[in-house]
Amino acid sequence: MIFADLRDRSGLVQVVFDPDAKAVFEGAEKLRNEFVIRVTGRVRERPAGTVNANLASGRIEILAHDLEILNRADPLPFQLDEQVSEEVRLRYRYIDLRRDVMAKRLRLRHSATRALRSHLDEAGFVEIETPMLTKATPEGARDYLVPSRTHAGKFFALPQSPQIFKQLLMVAGFERYYQVARCFRDEDLRADRQPDFTQLDIETSFLSQDEIMALMEGLIRHLFRTALAVELPDPFPRMAYAEAMRRYGSDKPDLRVALELVDVGDLVAGCDFKVFAAPAKDPKGRVAALRVPGGAAMPRSQIDEYTAYVARYGARGLAYVKVNERAKGRDGLQSPIIKFLSDAAVAGILERTGAQDGELIFFGADSAKVVGDALGALRLRLGTDLKLVAEAWRPLWVVDFPMFERDEESKRWVAMHHPFTSPANLDPEALRAQPGDALAKAYDMVLNGSEIGGGSVRIHSQALQSTVFDLLGIDHEEAQRKFGFLLDALKYGAPPHGGIAFGIDRLVMLMAGADSIRDVIAFPKTQTAACPLTEAPTEVSEQQLRDLHIRVRMPAPAG
Ligand code: AMO
Ligand code: AMP
Repeated sequence: MIFADLRDRSGLVQVVFDPDAKAVFEGAEKLRNEFVIRVTGRVRERPAGTVNANLASGRIEILAHDLEILNRADPLPFQLDEQVSEEVRLRYRYIDLRRDVMAKRLRLRHSATRALRSHLDEAGFVEIETPMLTKATPEGARDYLVPSRTHAGKFFALPQSPQIFKQLLMVAGFERYYQVARCFRDEDLRADRQPDFTQLDIETSFLSQDEIMALMEGLIRHLFRTALAVELPDPFPRMAYAEAMRRYGSDKPDLRVALELVDVGDLVAGCDFKVFAAPAKDPKGRVAALRVPGGAAMPRSQIDEYTAYVARYGARGLAYVKVNERAKGRDGLQSPIIKFLSDAAVAGILERTGAQDGELIFFGADSAKVVGDALGALRLRLGTDLKLVAEAWRPLWVVDFPMFERDEESKRWVAMHHPFTSPANLDPEALRAQPGDALAKAYDMVLNGSEIGGGSVRIHSQALQSTVFDLLGIDHEEAQRKFGFLLDALKYGAPPHGGIAFGIDRLVMLMAGADSIRDVIAFPKTQTAACPLTEAPTEVSEQQLRDLHIRVRMPAPAG
């Protein structure tokens, strides 16, 4: 007998070739892995004792009467059950996608976009396509440019998002728009970023921030219910940006980890330890503590490793206190810095962190940014290392973002979201007076530590939009050149409007339990923004360059 596993889109089935059927059996002897065949035969129950409970079709097999080899296959560069590098998987992506786990992920992606589309269709949204060859949209990344042949020396930009077009569609009166939209951003890549990625892009007219958020939550609840049979909370909790930064050192807190940062600056401002006292007194500084359950038993080598870990985020050290026996006061504590702290400071720190016997307290002291980044990252690392990540879906909204961030290098204000976001206070004078204090009508949807969507209520008054451009250091002439068409549109009856865009790749990555968005994209790019399969990007012919009026200047070789 010859047994073969026959695979198609629906799964596997076992085919049996009996030597009694001579011609068919001889054909079967020529079969090799991954040959493409057509089999005719009789479906029969498997003999007792040979049932495969792990297979949906495990109770039956096909006794082949006829076999046709439709195509042969060379030995594969890797077996489907073999672990190989991602580079190799991407080089032969069409083989990698034959794996059950990969096929399941792409099918999940399909059901996810279907669920999203059908929910929006029912709510009266219209899917409208916007151009790929267009003008720069400011979303904070570099543009991918496309040279124009017909306009020498001019370039299209691929959209970083359909932001401006969706606003124009609101001016056009559609009121409810969505698009499963490709976006292009030339930025540093990470596990949750691709140079070309997909947004579910949405815009609405006449709705308040609360109404938009309620609608969008409903959409995501529908998605999880339909695609995963998971019931998400109703409503999602909301947290102000300032609170998220304070408690989690992040604007996308992972609420599955219960550990929190606790401010202790006021307790140590007067102490003799300059490392703590200086940032405690500096308005831009911060001293914060992080309690670690079970940490008193942490060996020195582990503390050193965490110290090296936070150094990546700019932290110059990682002070700690081990709480051996709290009742013994100072004597029950173990720490290189305890000698610098007053009794009152020690008591205050223990009380505020709630540290118990057997626990450890880490400290970060630096600029608020470094402390937030370092302890925020350490909090997540400890969550994983100490298995403190709850098995749960923990969505939330982060709201009340500042309008602007100060870029110290260029000494300019930059939009925290994008320059079309409405301030909470619509008075242009108030905005001009205190740009640093202005809050935006912006909201991010965060799920398990990932920013899965971000949006805002937009500016629909031309005067206010001009003020914001002005504050961002975009002068009248530049504003006209870059966004004149939007400023024009705002003059001709623009309704109040606002929306959001979800990162579909990120959403599906989380839903699939994948580690990287590359695992839910059929043909993704590597970390260096290249495609090992097609070898894009490639050089082009001299003639093509000539047609495009381009001369290439190669960078000088390094060193
Ligand atoms: P934003 O820039 O926040 O907002 O993007 C929206 C969502 O898109 C996803 N995302 C990405 N996913 C994969 N790779 C990337 N490089 C990448 N960049 C962003 C994230 C993010 O939350 N026009 C606004 C939306 C609006 O205001 O309506 C915008 O693009 O999940
Ligand atoms: P030092 O005074 O440099 O010997 O540091 C004493 C302790 O404070 C060590 O445990 C350091 O890791 C820690 N430390 C130093 N700088 C910082 C900082 N900026 N934030 C937190 N801890 C620090």
